[in-house]
Amino acid sequence: MWDVLKSKAEGIGSRRISTLFDDDPDRAERFSARAGDMLFDFSKTNIDADTLNALLALCEASGLADRRAAMFSGAPINVTEGRAVLHTALRNIDKGPVTVDGEDVMPGVRETLDRMRAFAKAVRSGSARGASGAFTDIVNIGIGGSDLGPVMACGALAPYADGPRCHFVSNVDGAHLADTIRHLDPTRTLVIVASKTFTTIETMTNARSIRAWMINGGGDPGRQFAALSSALDKTAEFGIPDERVFGFADWVGGRYSMWGPIGLSIMLAIGPKDFDAFLKGAAAMDDHFREAPLAENLPVLLALVGIWHRQVLGYATRAVLPYDQRLLRLPAYLQQLEMESNGKSVTMDGADLEIPSGPVVWGEPGTNGQHAFYQLIHQGTDIVPCEFMIAAEGHEPDLGQHQRLLIANCLAQSQALMLGRSLDEAKAMVAGEGLSGDALDTAARHRVFHGNRPSVTLAYPRLTPHVLGMIVALYEHRVFVEGVVLGINSYDQFGVELGKVLAKAIDPVLCDRDAGDGLDGSTTGLIGYLRTCAGPGAWGT
Ligand code: F6P
Repeated sequence: MWDVLKSKAEGIGSRRISTLFDDDPDRAERFSARAGDMLFDFSKTNIDADTLNALLALCEASGLADRRAAMFSGAPINVTEGRAVLHTALRNIDKGPVTVDGEDVMPGVRETLDRMRAFAKAVRSGSARGASGAFTDIVNIGIGGSDLGPVMACGALAPYADGPRCHFVSNVDGAHLADTIRHLDPTRTLVIVASKTFTTIETMTNARSIRAWMINGGGDPGRQFAALSSALDKTAEFGIPDERVFGFADWVGGRYSMWGPIGLSIMLAIGPKDFDAFLKGAAAMDDHFREAPLAENLPVLLALVGIWHRQVLGYATRAVLPYDQRLLRLPAYLQQLEMESNGKSVTMDGADLEIPSGPVVWGEPGTNGQHAFYQLIHQGTDIVPCEFMIAAEGHEPDLGQHQRLLIANCLAQSQALMLGRSLDEAKAMVAGEGLSGDALDTAARHRVFHGNRPSVTLAYPRLTPHVLGMIVALYEHRVFVEGVVLGINSYDQFGVELGKVLAKAIDPVLCDRDAGDGLDGSTTGLIGYLRTCAGPGAWGT
């Protein structure tokens, strides 16, 4: 199957994407799909009908339908950790039972959600209070999946935020904590410690430091701390009262967890009703993923376009370019979702992966990126497939002309990538500047855009909680499809462990409890330099 796709890629030669539109007047329609009122257009790629069929055949042959059924039904598809993968159950609220090991998990999911709602209502109404009054601010302490989703969603849904202000501290760099709490009142701040394992060193260090700040400032950790975790013994050990602990099962992966307790900060910011709409949006995408035929299935198509670009054509990175300022943190969120899930080099059974793993994902909102790195995207030597996102409407009715310009820019970029500018066109452009001969040629060459660079566009009416839920679930399922086609387990993350183990070994060297004899020369040299600069005792004991 991969061979068929490789030969399709070779067969394309220098074919221009733009000619596909000349050959097929209905291309835009035929190479796009809808889920609800969301439109996914992949017509500005070099995928033709034959290639699409080959990609769909690859997907079918990978056993996607069975794997998908296994995931939704609670089978332990995370084979390396022996766990089910059931973040979809967290948004299956109005629907039927979901069983894990013969037990319906939905009553527990609903009960936790009800507790979250009650807590959110109490905090937002001021009936749950800090030492000196209603909560004005919330600080979520967490990292990775216990941070990126909530930060991203709170930014995306800012127009819906009518609760206390939400802040996020993830980095163990003291600057992050210090800069966040500087202007907060320790007697009116609610701290949420978000950690699935409740052992993550960054999170636990920040949690202890903010607790000390609260106590020193007259706050009351007994009523101003909550925890979101799977490790209920550890939350108790930390001293967080049970009624302020929101637990979840091990079948919710960290980077897939914002639909349940890890999303508490989102619920506190936008309120339970809008949080429900967010869940419902994701559930709508779940239904679409389960029911739509493969050729009309957004997560499947998004994944297959990605596979075409990465595994078949060999493009190493993919840019995610939301023309939606409030999706500022979406690229960072997707970096964890995609790269922690599909950045692997062994297959499910431990054999070497013989095709490239998932790509590097990066990006920034447009139009800002246009004034920064788009130069490389248009004229660099590497091809970067781009994923544009654009809403029909913003939330600023008085600034409609801004949205118009945003849309014009978004559409212009995907056009420019596809069409480019030929040498003749560039010459015609610079001819008016009085140049001729070699000088004209040189000046024109700098202005050539080779074009023929692929992009896809996801368009939606407006970034509401429902639409955001759909977008995030779309990307979650995209990762799933890519993982199934590559034959890897998307749900473990052993690649993050080695660095954690080594950091633990370096820490005692930094506080002179270990001589560090076994360290390599570079590490020893760097420690020596940093120790000299910082001076004795600067790092504590
Ligand atoms: O280091 C990676 C990781 O394990 C992520 O997968 C996870 O989202 C993050 O750390 C945080 O883990 P926890 O929620 O257990 O603190």
